[in-house]
Amino acid sequence: MATARDKTMTNKKKIVLLPGDGIGPEIMRAAVRVLKGCAAEFGHEFDFAEFPFGGCAIDATGVPLPAETLAACKAADAILLGAVGGPKWDAVPLTKRPESGLLGLRKALGLYINLRPIDLHASLMGLSPLRADRASDVHIDFVRELAGDIYFGKHHVEADPSGERATDEAVYTTAEVERVAKYAFARAESRKGKLASVDKANVLTTSQLWRRTVTRMAADHPNVKVEHLYVDNAAMQLVLAPAQFDVILTSNMFGDILTDLGAALAGSIGLIPSMSCGPGPSLYEPIHGSAPTLAGKDVANPVGMILSAALMLRESFGMKHEAEWIESAVDRVFASGVRTPDTVEPGTTKVGCIEFGERLMAEMTKASKREHTGA
Ligand code: IPM
Ligand code: MG
Repeated sequence: MATARDKTMTNKKKIVLLPGDGIGPEIMRAAVRVLKGCAAEFGHEFDFAEFPFGGCAIDATGVPLPAETLAACKAADAILLGAVGGPKWDAVPLTKRPESGLLGLRKALGLYINLRPIDLHASLMGLSPLRADRASDVHIDFVRELAGDIYFGKHHVEADPSGERATDEAVYTTAEVERVAKYAFARAESRKGKLASVDKANVLTTSQLWRRTVTRMAADHPNVKVEHLYVDNAAMQLVLAPAQFDVILTSNMFGDILTDLGAALAGSIGLIPSMSCGPGPSLYEPIHGSAPTLAGKDVANPVGMILSAALMLRESFGMKHEAEWIESAVDRVFASGVRTPDTVEPGTTKVGCIEFGERLMAEMTKASKREHTGA
């Protein structure tokens, strides 16, 4: 009988690692172990190269996104990012903060699509703040626009008789809305065929442009059922009846807020992966932050980071079986009651970040690769 290895083409991939700050390095180590296990199991060759980014890069080089880091990212097949920021750099001016490195990287790589899948794991239902009847069957793909809006408009402070006057400009062009909407329509077509576009078209001209553009494109996608929601209503619907959603398309600012809400529905923000893509290499990161108070204590949840690595395998490298091998092992570890502190429930076993990774590796090794390849 042929083995998986015989059937799978060996793939060589260059992966740039940006562990960043806080818990970033710990969760990155867990994800890299999983990827090394995957490479060994399926006969791939992953080349890892680590670069400074965020607060640690400010400390080492004076800037959050050093030129060498950006050059490596541009030349990579994919990029894995832990998290950036922390109180240490709070006093740094806005344009020089770790977060500005992240925005700079998104801009420089042209990452205009941000996919944030919110899937409520069956064995973690008890963690959701939602009532059980509302928490079942929640699988939402958020498509957040990532390269425009109030994030990238002019930011300006001037004198004012009362003290100061601050302005943040929000801008969208037709082309910017079209390119991200195109992705969201395709995503909906590959899922349940439902697309909810979220805006504030009763107040904002950028939102009116957004709604006009999505409405026009809907005519070319008769197989996708499109609805438009105001962002305030969308926030309420996400809490009251989240199972109604399939793909949610929204702008950069609204997407930032709604995806944290979405992550909270899953029970812990530590569980959610993300992908950012544009014309070049894609970037994968958990949606949580650097959690400075948890750093160095071996209590961080590595699942968001590990699932980001799995998303990378599937979306950037076309390695569907490999991604499923990891994701299904994560589900089984949860089902077995092994939990990091943020997901502990009565009757479960609390483990640290390192041990969670070890349990996961053991679970992956147990599962025959044949199960996932049909070999
Ligand atoms: C996110 C984060 C970032 C954002 C910050 C760190 C700049 O909150 O990825 O959601 O606002 O986009
Ligand atoms: Mg955010």
